[in-house]
Amino acid sequence: MFTATLRDGFALRLMEERHAPALFAAVERERLHLREWLAWVDATRAEDDTLAFIRSALEQYAAGNGFAAGIWNQSRLAGTIGLHKIDWINRRVEIGYWLAREFAGRGVMTDACRAVTTHCFEELGLHRVEIRCAAGNARSAGVPKRLGFVLEATLREAHLLNGNFHDLLVFAMLAQNWIA
Ligand SMILES: CC(C)(COP(=O)(O)OP(=O)(O)OC[C@H]1O[C@@H](n2cnc3c(N)ncnc32)[C@H](O)[C@@H]1OP(=O)(O)O)[C@@H](O)C(=O)NCCC(=O)NCCS
Repeated sequence: MFTATLRDGFALRLMEERHAPALFAAVERERLHLREWLAWVDATRAEDDTLAFIRSALEQYAAGNGFAAGIWNQSRLAGTIGLHKIDWINRRVEIGYWLAREFAGRGVMTDACRAVTTHCFEELGLHRVEIRCAAGNARSAGVPKRLGFVLEATLREAHLLNGNFHDLLVFAMLAQNWIA
């Protein structure tokens, strides 16, 4: 079971079906903030959509292909972090994340990404961890930069958000370069 304790009372715990109301409520509160950079937000219209997401993430976890975790501050859901489907052939994965505004600006996501990256290398035995974000998403790009990920590429207009194509930055960390 994936869990991690972070600084200042924050912790990562696997998302479970019982968390659907809290997760949907957080998405509702943060909708305008999140939809600027996350394409799935507009498709999340009801709690059932969130429940379906959690169920598919639990299936992904059961199959050994990654997970979705809540970032909790005591009993409050601050955001989520997760792995896209693991590419086991190449031992490569991509991390995705978001944080509610009231928890931003304190290094919480940097801590969460550090814990998940360490888990990827030390527990899962992966070789390469990627973080991808739109070129204009400076706050998201700040997370891999702070952790020493290397900016390897700009994929031109590879990211469609709200009807506009954005350049997509590809940051990566290799197992041999990771100091937890
Ligand atoms: C991307 C996102 C999670 C980044 O949030 P964030 O709060 O900037 O990231 P962190 O929690 O790591 O905090 C970093 C900030 O806290 C500051 N900070 C304070 N204490 C810190 C510490 N101990 N360690 C690291 N940073 C610290 C950093 O200086 C930084 O602030 P700055 O950018 O003004 O310099 C958030 O903006 C978000 O959810 N955006 C919408 C969804 C999104 O874009 N998701 C990613 C799609 S690719």
